[in-house]
Amino acid sequence: MQKVIALDGPSASGKGTIAARVAAALGWAYLDSGALYRLTALHAQNHNIDWANEAAVAALAAELPAEFRGQTVWLDGQDVTQAIRSERIGMGASAVAKLLAVRQALLQRQRNFLTAQGLVADGRDMGSTVFPEAQLKIFLTASAQIRAERRAKQIGVPLDGAAFAQILADIQARDAADRSRPVAPLQQLPDAKLLDTSHRSIEETVQQVLDWYQASP
Ligand code: C5P
Repeated sequence: MQKVIALDGPSASGKGTIAARVAAALGWAYLDSGALYRLTALHAQNHNIDWANEAAVAALAAELPAEFRGQTVWLDGQDVTQAIRSERIGMGASAVAKLLAVRQALLQRQRNFLTAQGLVADGRDMGSTVFPEAQLKIFLTASAQIRAERRAKQIGVPLDGAAFAQILADIQARDAADRSRPVAPLQQLPDAKLLDTSHRSIEETVQQVLDWYQASP
């Protein structure tokens, strides 16, 4: 059993916020594994390498010149904290994440985030592949509509226009891509607890994770 809380779930489900807060509450390290796929997509784009070019993208992923410093993320000496959050890089992350060689290239790097204190890791395959021995596995989700509303509010988009419809469509497209891919598809594992945050506040969600952790073996 590893001192890991694995939080898997679809995009914009609030995993990042919840995982970071749980990590802070426990004094544990935090891994945002999606950021590694986003960094890989951005790095490939910067090198004019097609996201479908498995061998070339995997070679870049294996040597990713990235660094996490507090709340910021750096690539090749540049602060890319904002740049990796764009919708385009999100789609790129989803594209490179389909490639087995890329996933393998990033595997050990993710495992290196585990410290003696413990680790909260968020992503799609934390419980299935990266930390199969995690002490607690959670599948964190919310309806696509609610996730789209949360994202729209975050970036100041009104909920009744074309821009909102696009956000919702992007979320649904990414869900479909992540669920249907043959390699590491997004799924709820039999040993993961389901946490639907559609009608829960951030505080309630964090508390539920901490309660489950206290009660876990
Ligand atoms: O979590 P986030 O939205 O930042 O992840 C971006 C993309 O990276 C996801 O759509 C997914 O395709 C991929 N990903 C993955 N496995 C992870 C984390 C992210 O395949 N552990």
